[in-house]
Amino acid sequence: MTPDKAAERMRLRAQEVRPAPAVSDTLREIARKAPYMHDGRFKTLEELVEFYNRGGTKNPHQDNTIIPPELTEQGKQDLVALLRSLNGKGWQQVAAPRPFSK
Ligand code: HEM
Repeated sequence: MTPDKAAERMRLRAQEVRPAPAVSDTLREIARKAPYMHDGRFKTLEELVEFYNRGGTKNPHQDNTIIPPELTEQGKQDLVALLRSLNGKGWQQVAAPRPFSK
């Protein structure tokens, strides 16, 4: 992701009303939204699933209920397939509504 794109993404996210300091985006259409995470650190869903499969980045603030799921190669592929299945059809053809007549 270019610095401009990252800055624009942060600006848009800052305008959103958030109920908590860290709230993940929707996974809808996720396969079309690479790169992933707020800083675009993962170029592919495979990289992202590897990250989650190792339990994320260890740090003193990580909740101890976060444990690596230890997915097999097949399990990781299945999870990527699940994420890819969250794409939909139809919205691409939706036109903006016509304004009401005055
Ligand atoms: C295997 C299980 C999980 C999958 C498949 C998954 C999937 C994803 C994906 C695809 C994104 C990127 C969204 C984007 O860039 O638009 C994301 C971001 C995020 N997820 Fe997960 N997630 C999982 C588990 C979790 C867990 C357990 C937590 C919290 C305890 C979590 C919290 C977050 C947060 C806070 C972000 C935003 C991170 C950022 O923008 O840097 N996720 N997740």
